[in-house]
Amino acid sequence: MVQGESNKSANSSKHHMVGGEGPHSYLRNSEYQKQLLLSADDSIQDLISHHLDAGNPPRTFRIADFGCSVGPNAIQAVENIIKAVKIKFENSRSTPDFHVFFNDLIGSDFDTLFKNLPSPRNYFAAASPGSFHTQLFPKSTLNFAHCSTALHWLSRIPVEVTDRSSPAWNAGRIHYSGAGQAVRQAYSDQYAADMEAFLTARATELVPGGLMAVVVLGFPDGVVSSDSSIGKAFDILGSCLCDMARAGKIDEERVDSFNLPFYYPSPSELTALIEANGSYRIEKMAALAAPMRRRPDAAVLTSHLRAVIEVLVEEHFGNGVVEELFARHYEKLLKSPILVDEKFWKETNYFVFLKREEDL
Ligand SMILES: C[S@@+](CC[C@H](N)C(=O)[O-])C[C@H]1O[C@@H](n2cnc3c(N)ncnc32)[C@H](O)[C@@H]1O
Repeated sequence: MVQGESNKSANSSKHHMVGGEGPHSYLRNSEYQKQLLLSADDSIQDLISHHLDAGNPPRTFRIADFGCSVGPNAIQAVENIIKAVKIKFENSRSTPDFHVFFNDLIGSDFDTLFKNLPSPRNYFAAASPGSFHTQLFPKSTLNFAHCSTALHWLSRIPVEVTDRSSPAWNAGRIHYSGAGQAVRQAYSDQYAADMEAFLTARATELVPGGLMAVVVLGFPDGVVSSDSSIGKAFDILGSCLCDMARAGKIDEERVDSFNLPFYYPSPSELTALIEANGSYRIEKMAALAAPMRRRPDAAVLTSHLRAVIEVLVEEHFGNGVVEELFARHYEKLLKSPILVDEKFWKETNYFVFLKREEDL
């Protein structure tokens, strides 16, 4: 591929988190993602110890975190990886230098990320902006790829769901949650294409035998998204947008054309996509406990959702909608069964550890 082509991809350059360090920022509203990462830490340590080839340490060990956002979760993740790699190379003649690349979409708040980097630190840091659905590094240069709670982001909204003439037209909803099979299929097809692009790009960038750890948001096999807390929260958000359209505050057509670019695969879907790609051995795939499920709090749930979705809402509806939308969401959420009924907390998150095949 042509160097620098990465930034052309997708209509997703604005699909980033709320930046800065304010009350609605991702920095202050990413406890869920942090808990997930922490629950994968020990597995990452063990798997590096088992699967990293300690025979001949490289001079420079290159790690990339894909979809890093503004930290500190990404920083914590790479430090955990470096710790395990150092232990593995402890008895070798030389210890490599560590070069860490933080990747996110070009609109992401890299300033805040770099301000939060520890100083001093035991690695060199660089930004690598662009879509992770494209190749971002030269061939066979990465030793370790990491990606946490980012792969559910599609590179674009499936075209069919905004096409009035398609059976997958998703009017009055903002997601496949609660929608018919055609809508779900359109999302699932887009996810399959995006995962194939992601896996192929990483297989090109990783050295033979290179490792990849991924935390994926998903649902267990057989669980429909509308029976999960995430699906319900999206239904509520969609109904708030419809209420605002009825009240004449936003245009109904804008609501019909608004869809969230998220897809939550099941473990069997994920396995099938990785196997179909054929570049990796799956060394581990395990469910991670859903964090924050014990005492869901309407204010916290709304803030987390807002930190992730606000930029998308503003991009589509313009300024002036976000405050009222999330105030309405909070009020409806207070009355929703999600807060009291355990059955809605079924989303399962997966930890996946892959080893790139030696010969491709
Ligand atoms: C929920 S955040 C997770 C951030 C971080 N990994 C963590 O665990 O806290 C998802 C991140 O993925 C980024 N992202 C989404 N699509 C992307 C793409 N195609 N390429 C690079 N980053 C992407 C978003 O901008 C966002 O910062």
